[in-house]
Parts: sequence; C-alpha cells; structure tokens
Amino acid sequence: MTETRTDTSRLPEHVPAEPLTARRGEPGATPLIDMQDISIAFGGIKAVDHASIDLYPGEVVALLGHNGAGKSTLIKILSGAYSRDSGDIFVRGETATIENPRDAKKYGIETIYQTLALADNVDAAANLFLGREIMSGWGTLDDGAMEAEARRVMGRLNPNFQRFKDPVKSLSGGQRQSVAIARAILFNARILIMDEPTAALGPQETAQVGELIKQLKADGIGIFLISHDIHDVFDLADRVVVMKNGQIVGSAATSDVTDDEVLGMIILGKCPPGATPGPGATVDDSIN
Ligand SMILES: Nc1ncnc2c1ncn2[C@@H]1O[C@H](COP(=O)(O)OP(=O)(O)OP(=O)(O)O)[C@@H](O)[C@H]1O
Ligand SMILES: [Mg+2]
Repeated sequence: MTETRTDTSRLPEHVPAEPLTARRGEPGATPLIDMQDISIAFGGIKAVDHASIDLYPGEVVALLGHNGAGKSTLIKILSGAYSRDSGDIFVRGETATIENPRDAKKYGIETIYQTLALADNVDAAANLFLGREIMSGWGTLDDGAMEAEARRVMGRLNPNFQRFKDPVKSLSGGQRQSVAIARAILFNARILIMDEPTAALGPQETAQVGELIKQLKADGIGIFLISHDIHDVFDLADRVVVMKNGQIVGSAATSDVTDDEVLGMIILGKCPPGATPGPGATVDDSIN
C-alpha cells in the first residue's frame, strides 16, 4: 500500500512498523531480535554451533569471545551476509526471512562496520543519502531537503556537530562514527550491529561514541556491540553474551557479574553463578 507514504515517497523503503518500547522484563516485552539455535559450518568448522541470543528495545547486548569464537559470523547471519544452515530468527516476535543484507535492512537491522563505509570526499549530508538520494520533482538532487534532514538527524545524535559542509575525511573518528550511525538511523534502523566501533579511536572519541550509544538506547534502539574492550562493555552494555568455539558459554546482566567472571567465561568457558549457562559452558566437575 503506498497511499500512506506521501510524506516519504521520495525516500527509499522505510520500515513501517511502530517502535516497540517495553524493555526486557517489563510486561508485554517482545524482543526486537530473537535468534534461536543458529548453526553454520564452513567446511568442517562449526563457526556457530546451536547459538541463541536475543535483544530488547533500548538494550545494549555485548558479544564477547576470543578471536575465532564466532561473534562476527553469528552477527553476519543477522545482517544477511551469511545464510545459516539451521535455526530460526524472529524479529519483533515474528519469523523473519533474512537471506541477504537487503532483507535485513527491511527489518530495520543496520550494521556499522569498523571500517566505516563512508565516501570520504563528500560531506555528511551526501553520505547520509548515498545511494538513496532525495530527488526533486524535476528528477534532480534535492540538496536542500537532504541537508535539512541531515541537520535534524545529526542534531539529535550529536548536537555539537556543526561541520555539515566539510568532506567527511576531515572529520574526527568519533564524528565519522556519528555520520555512519546517523545514516542508519535515518533509514529507521531499530537494531544496530556495531562490530568493534571504538577499536581505532582515542579516549576522547571513544567517550563520544559512548554518548552516541546512550542516546540510541534512550530512543529505544537495540544494539549488539562486539568489543574486545571489557571496560567499554561494562560501561555501555546491559548484558553480556560470551561465545567460545562457536557456542554460547552464557549470558548475564552486566550488574550480575564481575569483569573477572566475564574473563573466566571468555578464557575458560566457565559460567559464573550470576549468568545463565549456554551449550558451550564448561562443566565444572569439582562441584559434584
Ligand atoms: N567465510 C568463511 N569461510 C571459512 N571460515 C570462516 C568464514 N568466516 C568465518 N570462518 C571461521 O569461523 C570461525 C569463527 O570466525 P568469526 O570471524 O566469526 O570469529 P570472531 O569471534 O568474530 O573473531 P574475531 O574476534 O577475530 O573477529 C573461525 O574459525 C573462522 O576462521
Ligand atoms: Mg569478528
């Protein structure tokens, strides 16, 4: 049905559904994302082995684990980069068909990669609309509409940002992150995947990205955050999920576990009392 789209008819596909707002544990809460029993193998390697993970509105879920644990692979199944061998994905409680990145975007799932896919030589507004430009009725680019929209979205995310006319290559790492995130938000992302967003940033810019994440949370967006930095994780995440050898070791609210316990999950696969064990948890014989 297109008749309700008059306002946005010049914009590419939008996600029509209303935002879900109930948080984890609240009555009637429905996960934005529920991945159940997901597996994928490459040759003989079980990169993801019966993994289940979920994400609620306004929640940051950190995905942790050693190199090769399966974090990126699990998240690439959600973003449509890989097709799973088995398992189910539910978006807002309904079975989702995600076979390619375009499908994922239709469900409001956007990925911010560490190597930000920005066009360096053009400004923030041009980047926000890259490949999905607003056209005027005459079939030309509507620069005014794009800049106004860029100012609206960037103003909400990063009110101090003023450099709308500068090519993005001259921006700081944190500002570039804001542009990449604004691009996702502009197209109604409700679920953001961030794979090591602060790995290349200095302390001040890392703090700036932290502020962005808090703003997104307040807006009810759900975020999967892949990070190697356990301090980042305790500062920003509501929950941690640890993977090892393709399996989920366990998951916990960050308030229920210490950083040493999380390190024990990552290194030893040992699930502490405050966490819910997954199929990859090491069985501790000493307590039997
Ligand atoms: N396209 C692929 N072809 C073959 N093997 C792959 C492919 N992608 C991932 N793997 C393998 O799957 C396993 C999980 O890799 P993955 O990249 O998901 O780990 P990760 O937890 O993201 O690690 P890192 O912290 O290094 O990013 C590894 O053994 C990896 O070599
Ligand atoms: Mg990875």
